[in-house]
Order: sequence, then structure tokens, then C-alpha cells
Amino acid sequence: MAWIGEIDLGTRPAPLLSGKMVSLTIDGEAIEVPEGTSIMRAAALMGTTIPKLCATDSLEAFGSCRLCLVEIEGRAGYPASCTTPVMPGMVVSTQTDRLKQLRKGVMELYISDHPLDCLTCSANGDCELQDMAGAVGLRDVRYGYEGEHHLDACKDASNPYFTFDPAKCIVCSRCVRACDEVQGTLALTVDGRGFESHISASQDDGFLKSECVSCGACVQACPTSALIEKEVEKIGTPDKAVVTTCAYCGVGCTFRAEMRGEQLVRMVPWKDGKANRGHSCVKGRFAWGYANHKERILNPMIRASIDEPWREVSWEEAIAHTASEFKRIQAKYGTRSIGGITSSRCTNEETYLVQKLIRQGFGNNNVDTCARVCHSPTGYGLKTTFGTSAGTQDFDSVEEADVMLVIGANPTDGHPVFASRMKRRLREGAKLIVVDPRRIDLVRSPHIEAAYHLPLKPGTNVAVLTAIAHVIVTEGLADEDYVRARCDWDEFSEWAAFVSQPERSPEATEALTTVPAADLRAAARLYATGGKAAIYYGLGVTEHSQGSSTVIAIANLAMATGNVGMEGAGVNPLRGQNNVQGACDMGSFPHEFSGYRHVSDDATRKLFEEAWGVPLDGEPGLRIPNMLDAATEGTFKGLFVQGEDILQSDPNTHHVAAGLAAMECVVVQDLFLNETANYAHVFLPGSTFLEKDGTFTNAERRIQRVRQVMRPKNGYADWEIVQLVAQAMGLGWAYTHPSEIMDEIARLTPTFARVSYAALDEHGSVQWPATDAAPIGTPVMHIEGFVRGKGHFVVTDYVPTDEKTGPRFPLLLTTGRILSHYNVGAQTRRTDNVAWHPEDRLEIHPLDAENRGIRDGDWVALRSRAGETTLRALITERVAPGVVYTTFHHPDTQANVITTDYSDWATNCPEYKVTAVQVTPSNGPSDWQESYRAQATRSRRIEAVAAE
Ligand code: SF4
Ligand code: SF4
Ligand code: SF4
Ligand code: FES
Repeated sequence: MAWIGEIDLGTRPAPLLSGKMVSLTIDGEAIEVPEGTSIMRAAALMGTTIPKLCATDSLEAFGSCRLCLVEIEGRAGYPASCTTPVMPGMVVSTQTDRLKQLRKGVMELYISDHPLDCLTCSANGDCELQDMAGAVGLRDVRYGYEGEHHLDACKDASNPYFTFDPAKCIVCSRCVRACDEVQGTLALTVDGRGFESHISASQDDGFLKSECVSCGACVQACPTSALIEKEVEKIGTPDKAVVTTCAYCGVGCTFRAEMRGEQLVRMVPWKDGKANRGHSCVKGRFAWGYANHKERILNPMIRASIDEPWREVSWEEAIAHTASEFKRIQAKYGTRSIGGITSSRCTNEETYLVQKLIRQGFGNNNVDTCARVCHSPTGYGLKTTFGTSAGTQDFDSVEEADVMLVIGANPTDGHPVFASRMKRRLREGAKLIVVDPRRIDLVRSPHIEAAYHLPLKPGTNVAVLTAIAHVIVTEGLADEDYVRARCDWDEFSEWAAFVSQPERSPEATEALTTVPAADLRAAARLYATGGKAAIYYGLGVTEHSQGSSTVIAIANLAMATGNVGMEGAGVNPLRGQNNVQGACDMGSFPHEFSGYRHVSDDATRKLFEEAWGVPLDGEPGLRIPNMLDAATEGTFKGLFVQGEDILQSDPNTHHVAAGLAAMECVVVQDLFLNETANYAHVFLPGSTFLEKDGTFTNAERRIQRVRQVMRPKNGYADWEIVQLVAQAMGLGWAYTHPSEIMDEIARLTPTFARVSYAALDEHGSVQWPATDAAPIGTPVMHIEGFVRGKGHFVVTDYVPTDEKTGPRFPLLLTTGRILSHYNVGAQTRRTDNVAWHPEDRLEIHPLDAENRGIRDGDWVALRSRAGETTLRALITERVAPGVVYTTFHHPDTQANVITTDYSDWATNCPEYKVTAVQVTPSNGPSDWQESYRAQATRSRRIEAVAAE
């Protein structure tokens, strides 16, 4: 592990608009830099550091501290090098005696109002103010320390992860600008004037109560310890770092995991990270404490039946028991009586090994993945239309987008770092269309306003997209040249005739969709004619009975308007989990090998049979719901579940529980005893992303390294555990490092042909396809033509869901995530992120609340045809009348108790986003919720006592 320091060049790179280079001389040395570069950056590029405080290369130059002064031949005065661009022939001096004197004077003023406690300061050795005092040679302060100062200002420790000490603040406003420019939340201001100037979160409310979303950008930007991580205060400054990838969401932010000895001190977003460009959200940056949580299980356990208590056993016994149970079950019930579930939380290599264990070792294709319940319609829809089950663009290309259409996604909560990049582009003038039943933050936030918000009724996505297509086709806005050149014209014609029918028009469907026809028409015109248009979508598209149809309808729109195959335009699924793209790529579905090749394809099967030395099943295996059905029918008896809590995350909890309870051997591999483990017979402790090597693939097909930061607390990385099970089942696996697994994947998967750890280390990341034709990957797909050949238009008729509202269940429930938590919350609930979201609440419109006598904060019962739960109400106009909304992060709420069995017609992806419900006042949580909460409170108290 080596220290990976980051060089700060002081100002951002010049925009490469003109492509012109400028020659100048700095301190007698000639240098050539792009036009628009600052003198400070030019000097830094040649290795000359000009003292600075208010400048940093992640922010626009500001020119406030006056420390970076330089002399320029022929120019009067001492311009600031951070705000002065280079000019041809310029002759610059950065280190004259006069400059040294001026800089010393500036530093004196700063230091005269700064506590001189460097030796005991938490940032000692990692403080730019301290460095600059040294750099300018300051030895004394002429003004003394007796005058007015800010040294007794109160510290704000309200944020769980960082503190703000105004006594150490030099009011450089780097934090304010980071919050504005990088994060886009605008939570901070410089309040007051002159000597009274100070940094204020919201209206001096303190960070926790302000709009701050705890992304940490201000902490990262602060040149002193005024803003500093609490872990640094506790543990000390880090002394080494390793670059790795966040294990939360599909943005795939890379971080420097900064360590002191074996202790992780902080995660600092990596400036060279191509997905995040040096930014992060609260989860990746701060919510990693679950890795050390006392509830983590570190020893394997087994039990004969789920009614018995767990018994801790050795790894040898647990592995041997697992293998013998699976063999016993197959001998008794047949080859297809067992299967497994891979996890989008795990690495590509681990996922590949689980599906290999099932195909090679179990001898069947009964493998499925959690993508079944999120993005399986993406795989189906994009493969059908474009030929590849993946997004078409990279994140960088949002900077080229003129129009963004966001449908069924809430990027500021679900994909926050990408949302910040979107917001920056929107502030630059790009236009936004939001299609969502809820008024998500992007609809209106500081300096951002959607051109159109189409608040559709949940379940009518296809009708809305068809109406948009209707406008485009009937108003002659389709790009016929593009379609003729790249798509099947006959299919297009058929589709165009279908969408042009009068009954598909915005006016004809307005009553159904609740979207005002005039807004829809205007939005359609903007999408078709506003320049390069990119569609970003999420689970609000896929988790419907018409999820696959909606993905296809989106693809149809993009093809019809020529918006695929170039930077700034495309179709982009915002993947939920960190490695949902990778889990799908690795052959986790029951009908596909890695690279989306069907198991019935003889040539592909032969390739794997030769590599793995066994005959392989050509019949697709069971999907998760089918495994559970078969279990209740008595034909499916054993399941290996890696890193997935199907009891909480899959629909119709009662059915999942019944299926699991009917099995004879359920093996759960996870960090914590999750809800599924209540039905398990073997528990194999998992390792966190900090404890292993591997790769994740993010939403833009970017494969990035996960690097081991610390030794696995449970003794083994997850890939090693799968290998031990495989060996015990008689398979001769002998991988010594995950790089060897990736080499095998590359050998057997054409789209990964040029992927290797060496390539990833060299290039930082690789976006598949990485082939001989594109050895370092493919940021934008379908540039020359669609992967499948001609783009495939498919008619998508709107079919209403069977889930209907009526007198008993008059409201529609839809669900989503909140920024501070992740999915079922197994990790984030075990961190201080609970400060922002301690419980799931039910959002309800004031009219619906009033009709039911519900006040804000009241307990309400939420009932559907499938079940009932209790939670507290949050009255808000974010949701339309007739629609209610909740998150599903807390197991004591179990939102999935009330979701139904309906699912996508093509992929079985559950219809989480539409459930007919009734909401009534309640006296409080039901008995099972009370006992769950009591247990959780007890364990929190124990933790608090332990911490004291
Ligand atoms: S808190 Fe830090 S970044 Fe913000 S103004 Fe003060 S010193 Fe500068
Ligand atoms: S943590 Fe992020 S959101 Fe909060 S004030 Fe700092 S930059 Fe703004
Ligand atoms: S945006 Fe996603 S990948 Fe990035 S830090 Fe947050 S959770 Fe991690
Ligand atoms: S660094 Fe240039 S004025 Fe502050």
C-alpha cells in the first residue's frame, strides 16, 4: 500500500475550446499550455508552486486571498496568478523579493487571527495554512495577538461526520464554492461583512439542520482544519492510501481510502476517478462504519433446522456441511433441486464464481440475481432494441447534453454524484424534462428548474411515452435521415403508424395519465428539437408490469429522434447497486452465460464446457420467484444466497418466507444476520469491499478496481469462500488471486477480451466492450451503428396493470430511496446516517390526509391486498393527490409486506412502483413492529454504552 498524494494544480484546466496553445516564460523557463490556462496552473505544470490559499483545482478561481501574486513584465502591479490567464509571450516572475514580502504580509494577517496550536491541531501536517506560512517564510507576526479576533467562536459538531470550527476559518470561501460548484446544494454562505464575515450553514442553523447533504465537498476543499472529519480528530492524520471503488450505488465513485496503520481514517474522493471526478456523497464518503459494526458476524454458523439456535463452527466444518448438504439434496431430489443467487453488491469475480459454481458444480442454470427485482427489464429492453444490455453513454458526456429527460429516477437521492454533474450542466443552460409522479428535487432546486414536470399517474409510463412519440411523429419531428440510415425502416413505419393513432395523443390519454396535454406536447417538442437529448431512467421505469415495454418505448423515442450513438445523447439506465451492471454481465441470469449469451447456444456452451471440463445444461434455469414457487411445491430444496436479503428486497414477503421455510438447506453468505438468514441453515460470514480485491462495473459499463485496504475480519474474502465451497463439491478450482478470475472471464467473454488488472491499473478503468478494435474500451456505444445491426423499433401498446384502485384501496403507493440510506439499509442503518432518516415515513398529499383525519407525524396503517404495515405520515405536496410514497430502508416497516405479486411480463421484475392501498389513522405500530423496534433500541443502547 503506497501513499497516493494528489497534486493540486491550483485552478481548473482550461476548456479545450480553441485547441490553441500559448507559449510564455515563467521564472526564465519556457512553457506551452492551452489557451485559457491560468498562470498558477501553468507554473504548477512545470513544477513551480505559487503560494495560494483560496485556489484549488476543483473550483473556479476566485482571487480573494492575494497570496498568489506574481509579476508580469510590462504590466503594472501584482496580479493574482489564479485569476490571470496566460498570454502569448508573457514573461512571469513568481519568486521576487517584492513578492515574498507581499506574501509574508498577507500571511501575517491570516495568522494573527488564527489559533497557534499547530502541534495539537488535528490537521497538523495536513494543513495548507501551515504549509503556506512555511512557504512564505513567516516567522513572526508583527500585530501581536491581543486585538479583536475570532478565536473563541463556537464549534459546530452537529454533523455526525465532521466538525466546523470557525476559530480556524480563514474565510477563503472554498467550502462555499465547493458546495455551490461541485455539489450544487448551495447550503453555505459567507454571512456578514469585513471582520464580521463568517461561514454560515443555512441561516446559521448549524450543519445538521441546514440543507447540507453531508457530501463532504466542503471538508475536502477546506485548506485548514476549520472543516475536518471527526475520524481524523479521533485517529490522527492518515499516512498511506489506496484507491478503491465505492460499494454503494451504480455511479461507481472512486476514493482514496486513507489509512493510519490498519485503521481506515477517511475516504477521500479521487480526483482522477472518471465516474466521480473527485466528488462523493454521504454514503461513500462517510458511511463505511458498518465494516466495524459489532453486529457483523465473523464466524461461520450452522444449525439443523431454522427453529434451533445457531452454533458457531470452524470454516472447515461449515464448508464441508454446505457441500454435503447440497450433494445430499441433489442425490435425493435431482440435479435441478438446488440453485443460487448472486449479488450486485459483490465483485464481478465473486459473481462470476457463484454462477460458475452453479453451472459447473450444481450442473444446472438455477442462478439468478437481485437485478431480477430492479433492472432486468433494462437488459431485455435495450438488448431487444439496440443489441446490448447497457447504457449507451458515459457520465462525462452529460456535459454535452442540451436536453435531459429524467424518467422514473430521483438522481439527487439515488445517484447523487451524477446528479451533481447533471445540475452543473443544467446551471450552464441545458434543459430538463422530469417524468415522475413525485416532485423530485430536480424539478426545482437552487438555480435549477425543470422546463417541464410531467406528474404522471403511477403505472402509465408507456401511455406517456407513446403520447410523446405521437407528438414527435405527427408533428414531423422525427429524424428520418437517422432512422433510414441506422434502423429498420419498415419497423419504424409500423411503429410510427401505431403511435400516430388519435387515441395515443396527449389529449386522448390525459385523463388516464393525469399529465396535462399541453405540457406533454411542449416537452415532446423540446426533447425532439432541443439539441442533443439524453434520457436517464431508474426503477420507476423498470419495476412495473410493463417495465420492459417502457424501456423499449424509451429506446424507440431515442432512435426516432436520432439521439443514440454520440456524446451528449443516449439512453442511460441509472443502475441502483454498485455492481448491478457487472452482476448481469457475469452471467447471473438463468438463461445467459457471461456477456449475455444464451445457454441454449451450442457454440457458447461448447466454449464453456471445454474451459470448465463438464457438460453444461442447455435449458434456462429458474428465476428467483420460480425457485420460491418450486420450493413451496416441494421440488426445490437448496439455495446458496450471496450478499442478498431476498426476504426484505423481494416482493410479497409472506411468499418469500414460505418458499425459504420449505427448503432443506439455505446457505446465506453476508456481513450481518439479515432477515433471510432467519430461514438459513448455514451462515457464512462475508467480507466488506474494504477487505478484498476485485472489480465493480458501474452504470456506464466502467470496470474499476476494488482494492484490498485491510485484511478480511472474517478470515476470507468472499471469492475465497465460494472457491472453498466449490473445492468441497469436488471442483478443482485453484485461483490464487481475483486477477486470475478476471483473466478467465476475459478469455470466455468477447466484450471483456481486453480487460485485465494490468489494463485497469494502467488506464484507471475500462468501459466494456473492450476488444481488439477498442482495446481501452468504449465510452459511447453505437457510434457507427447499433450493435445488433439495424435499430429495432417495437410497438409498445399500453396495457394497464392488474393492480387497480377501488373503494377498498383508493390510493396508489409508489416507493423509492433517500440519499442517506441504501436499499434495505443493512449497511447505512449501522452508521450515523440514521441521523438524517431514522425511520421510513409515508408521504401523503394534504387533501388525502385531511380526508382521513391524519396530521403530520401521526401513525397510519398502510394496507394493500397483500398485507399491512404501520408507519408515520409526512404530509407533503411532493406527491399528487391519490398517490402516496415511502422509502423501504427500515426492516421494522417492511414496505414489501404490502407489495403484490404482479411483475413485468418479460422478466418477472416485480411491480414495486404501483400498489393500490388504503391509509387510515392508527394507534401505533403493530405487535411485530413494536418488538422489532424494542430489539433495535436495545441494541442501540448497548452500542452506546459500549462506545462510552
Ligand atoms: S471553513 Fe475552511 S474552506 Fe470554508 S472559508 Fe473557512 S477556511 Fe475556507
Ligand atoms: S457537506 Fe456538501 S452539502 Fe454540506 S455544506 Fe459541505 S459541500 Fe455543502
Ligand atoms: S454516488 Fe454512489 S458510488 Fe458515489 S459515493 Fe455516493 S453511493 Fe458511492
Ligand atoms: S490563491 Fe489566488 S488569490 Fe487566493
